[in-house]
Amino acid sequence: MDELLKTLKAVAEPSRLRLLALCAEGEFTVSELVQILGQSQPRVSRHLKLLCDAGLLQKLREGSWMLYRFAPEKGAADIADLLLSRIPEKDPTFAMDRKRLRKVLADRSKAAEVYFNQTADHWDEIRGLHVEDAEVENAITQNLYSGPIEKFLDIGTGTGRILELIAPHAKSADGIDLSQEMLAIARANLDQASLKNCQIRQGDMYQLPFGDNQYDAACIHQVMHFADEPNRVIGEAARVLRPGGKLVVVDFAPHDMEDLRNTYHHRRLGFSDGEFVHWFQRNGLSFKSPQHLPGGQITVAIWTGIKAIPKGG
Ligand SMILES: C[S@@+](CC[C@H](N)C(=O)[O-])C[C@H]1O[C@@H](n2cnc3c(N)ncnc32)[C@H](O)[C@@H]1O
Repeated sequence: MDELLKTLKAVAEPSRLRLLALCAEGEFTVSELVQILGQSQPRVSRHLKLLCDAGLLQKLREGSWMLYRFAPEKGAADIADLLLSRIPEKDPTFAMDRKRLRKVLADRSKAAEVYFNQTADHWDEIRGLHVEDAEVENAITQNLYSGPIEKFLDIGTGTGRILELIAPHAKSADGIDLSQEMLAIARANLDQASLKNCQIRQGDMYQLPFGDNQYDAACIHQVMHFADEPNRVIGEAARVLRPGGKLVVVDFAPHDMEDLRNTYHHRRLGFSDGEFVHWFQRNGLSFKSPQHLPGGQITVAIWTGIKAIPKGG
């Protein structure tokens, strides 16, 4: 009874109902929500706190930013969904909020684009060294998708490309990356693609911000060559996979382009299949036949591992 009343009280106020409706459309910083609502920051922060306390919104730290998103706890989920379905689309206040929300999203895309354009040459140059992206993406989808995926994790998500690829086949998809700039680009891309089942957050592949045995599938695409300790990265990925879950790692086969080390800070000039056999075995993953995609100066390799199911499990 107390919990129910707390939820009802939290939403029984116009600004808070507006905030709930806005946060159901994505993840927003306080300043973005201030811009949309046209109210003072302390006031908006107070409303957000009440909504979080009532278990309707969730607060996520990302570097110096604090992001709010709609993530109702179990007890509040039904009421929250019902309320959202009753929001009068044509009500002038909600219509204005949606208009301002679109402007915030457009500003985000613009800022992300500026950063991306500064680094785009690097990406294009690396892409030019191997087979077409479409061929790699097709192979990733085939390796990952052997049946419906409940929960998918993209480790080192960058611009969110792998999330865009896999999210349509998954019930929910999470992405983590260390770089706030990359996450800003990913957020803009996912907004543009209207992928509402994706969530991204700042996180380190050496210390994933998730509990054990949660994901059906995970991908590490073009991230391992930056890793000082690949075995630890595989260990973390294996930890968050459920028994029977699948890890797909995509990177380069061994090559001698020393320039990638000097110019683009690659730690490793590719990996052998044997290294992955070893890392997978050490971390309780069975090694499936690797796939190699030659066709450029560098061969792209795909290594797939399946997390062992405990005996009797
Ligand atoms: C070449 S990008 C690949 C991005 C994405 N997987 C893709 O293929 O489009 C490498 C990404 O790894 C991220 N990264 C590097 N070290 C990381 C770490 N320790 N934890 C999480 N992400 C990391 C970088 O910020 C960058 O976004």
